Amino acid sequence: MGCAFEAAGYEKDLGRVSVSNRPDLCEYQCNGAMAGAKRYKKAPIMIAGEVAEKLAGSKVFKEVEAVAPGFLNLKLSEEFLFEYVKEMQKAEKYGIELEKKEKIIIDYGGPNVAKALHVGHLRSAVIGESVKRISRYVGHDITGDIHLGDWGQPMGLVMTELRERKPDLPYFDESFEGEYPDEAPFTVADLEEIYPAASAKSKVDEDFKARAMEATFKLQSGVRGYRALWNKIIDVSVSDLKRNYDNLNVHFELWNGESSVHELIPGMIQQMKDGGFAYLSEGALVVDVKEETDTKEVPPCMLLKSDGAAKYDTTDLATILDRTEKYHPDKIIYLTDKRQELYFTQIFRCAKKTGIVDPETKLIHIGFGTMNGKDGKPFKTRDGGVMRLEYLIKEINDEMLKKIKDNAAEKGYDIDENEALETAKTVGMAAIKYGDLSNQPAKDYIFDIDRFTSFEGDTGPYILYTIVRIKSILNKYKEQGGDVAAAQLVCPANDSEKELMKLLAGFNAMMLQAGEELAPNRVCAYIYDLANAFNHFYHETKILSEEDESRKAGLIALLDLTKNIFETCIDVLGFEAPDRM
Ligand code: ARG
Repeated sequence: MGCAFEAAGYEKDLGRVSVSNRPDLCEYQCNGAMAGAKRYKKAPIMIAGEVAEKLAGSKVFKEVEAVAPGFLNLKLSEEFLFEYVKEMQKAEKYGIELEKKEKIIIDYGGPNVAKALHVGHLRSAVIGESVKRISRYVGHDITGDIHLGDWGQPMGLVMTELRERKPDLPYFDESFEGEYPDEAPFTVADLEEIYPAASAKSKVDEDFKARAMEATFKLQSGVRGYRALWNKIIDVSVSDLKRNYDNLNVHFELWNGESSVHELIPGMIQQMKDGGFAYLSEGALVVDVKEETDTKEVPPCMLLKSDGAAKYDTTDLATILDRTEKYHPDKIIYLTDKRQELYFTQIFRCAKKTGIVDPETKLIHIGFGTMNGKDGKPFKTRDGGVMRLEYLIKEINDEMLKKIKDNAAEKGYDIDENEALETAKTVGMAAIKYGDLSNQPAKDYIFDIDRFTSFEGDTGPYILYTIVRIKSILNKYKEQGGDVAAAQLVCPANDSEKELMKLLAGFNAMMLQAGEELAPNRVCAYIYDLANAFNHFYHETKILSEEDESRKAGLIALLDLTKNIFETCIDVLGFEAPDRM
């Protein structure tokens, strides 16, 4: 299109084409002649007419029409579309090619050890995993790091509470020189109860709080017993976290934590002092990060508190230093609640200003919105407590199980209890993840179990239902002796087939854009359109009863490609489809 503008003597950039908002008139439209009218002081319809003339006989468009006051209405040639999709089907990754492969670190998950995962951790895990998979699919070299919260005040609180409960443990005896026991003196369930108890106590008991701060400092400065006890906390907690993230189909390449970089802190701080960046303010060591153009106040980064303990900021900065030294990444992406936006502005500025990160490295924070209940307030348990992630998953799975059994009864097929349970888990995961990912990350959304688990509408189960439908047709074709892999695409014979093919042809551009914008919601919107287009096609087309064998094979090939594209998409979203449901 750009070339046609150029050939007619206009600038190429005018040739931008978009999907038509009047599908009854045309498939695509180009409004470049309207913009060109101002630039060239010429009536838009004249420009449109000249461009249309240049496109006469084009292989790409079968119809190009200049209409008043100066729009270009376009219809794609079926032959061209068919050839394009055939090539795409053969190419590795459907022909996706990156302009520049980047080295990316993605910091997501961010759970705190000794605390149960709650719904607040869901979004970071779900969005982060998907952003990672999309980036990897389009060809970037991306590594996920969980960045455990394992080094701050919460550790001191847990250890202090443990000491109150079991003062005789050898960890607290500073003269103890022997081997510490192998067995941890607590279970995950104990830890999950101890932390909130300790946290509540520190808010009312100044003395307890002071002891917890001291314990944190002892841990950070390497007191043997505290380190050993801390190791036990990490062991018990991390194996539980692994189990929980596995259940979510979320996998981190790196299980580093705030603690992993503690040895870098003294050197980093020295460097910041030597560079004249860090200075003492009211006993704390800080770096100014405000800029003249700020419209809101951006407070300094605090590196060390007056008691000398490292802060959340300090470990995040040391982690940037560590990642820079080890990987020299092009990008570091962080996923947290958007309430941490100002914090990341401070950290990023401090890192750039003090030179602990390469000047070219892009530091990106994706701040996500809150997951709310139907009342519009942050999602809680029925009695108002913080919702544990495990319970939330269970609620969805229970609802899914009901719907799957109802559906089987309605369709009149038998489903045994085990299969129903497995399917409910698979579909439940899709319900949760799609419900989240179909929103723009920054938006708050309402976690609506009824809607998310519905087989109809813009939901995960609807997408899976569509995939299962395709799988079942392909299976029947095989049962009838057909060979799916050998089936060859044919040129689309009607509008619903053409529509489906057009969507498939848009896969590459969509995926590259999702990667560029770090936007899983693009993939969701795409598969929702694809599901609608497929279901429309399915209702209009006889497939297995088609008598013309080569057309039948062509339709099967189209189904197979549609299924593969769907599966690629749901894989980057982090869920999968069952064989039946
Ligand atoms: N552990 C932190 C929290 O629970 C989240 C960590 C986010 N990542 C980071 N690099 N700061 O709030």
